[in-house]
Amino acid sequence: MAYNNLKRALIGALVISASSVAFAADKKPLMSGASASMLSNTCAGCHGTNGASVGPASPSIGGMSAVYFEEVMQGFKTGELKSTIMTRIAKGYTDEEITAMGEFFSKQPFVVAKQSYDAGKAKKGAKLHDKYCEKCHADGGTSAEDDSGILMGQLVPYLHYTMSDYKSGDREMTKKMKKKVNQLIKKEGDAGFDALFNYYASGKQ
Ligand code: HEC
Ligand code: HEC
Repeated sequence: MAYNNLKRALIGALVISASSVAFAADKKPLMSGASASMLSNTCAGCHGTNGASVGPASPSIGGMSAVYFEEVMQGFKTGELKSTIMTRIAKGYTDEEITAMGEFFSKQPFVVAKQSYDAGKAKKGAKLHDKYCEKCHADGGTSAEDDSGILMGQLVPYLHYTMSDYKSGDREMTKKMKKKVNQLIKKEGDAGFDALFNYYASGKQ
């Protein structure tokens, strides 16, 4: 898929910026004495200040639930959750530091990414969201409380990559999400996801 080529190109650019991030971190060795906000600064090169990503391949992480944060970071760290870059990064942090960063990011606001979208598709997407996704991604995908990741206002390229990872099996869906996603694919095909992503790009419920 064209998206995969785009992803590779974008990640290539990220890796270059990551090496400068890693260099800065080298100079300031991470001790358990480092504050959560100091630790979190090392993420800003890709995830933006306080987790408000300017994209496109890195998701916004400010405002996500501390539980979800810890789950994905541990998933990256053990390699259970496949990633292009985050496994290497997550391995550099102790469990205690991951917990502290999760608390830090959960207290930051989730900043809705400014993106263009098609209003007609967004309207259809809202209906599809209610039918297939709302149960676990509450309040139009804005809620962090269900520990399933914020969808509304997330960068669309990231949503595309993530969804194709789920569909290819590189990232495992929970059984129940898989059921809904398969129903959506069967009834609406790729156009269903296109509508959903236009809805999430709209940034409003
Ligand atoms: C070089 C760029 C880069 C840096 C630096 C980086 N990330 Fe990431 N992050 C990514 C990318 C890209 C993804 C998407 C998963 C992947 O392909 O690795 C991601 C995904 C994530 C996710 C999953 C978000 C979700 O919605 O599921 C979390 C959490 C996260 N990063 C936390 C961090 C933290 C904490 C740091 C700093 C300690 C950090 N990242 C540093 C690029 C980066
Ligand atoms: C039965 C509950 C459930 C349903 C229904 C569900 N999801 Fe999820 N979703 C989850 C959970 C739990 C996670 C986080 C953990 C994981 O990856 O399994 C998640 C994660 C995601 C992520 C990754 C978020 C991130 O930040 O990386 C995306 C994208 C997503 N879901 C999209 C959807 C879409 C689109 C629908 C509707 C077609 C949907 N989900 C329906 C439970 C659900």
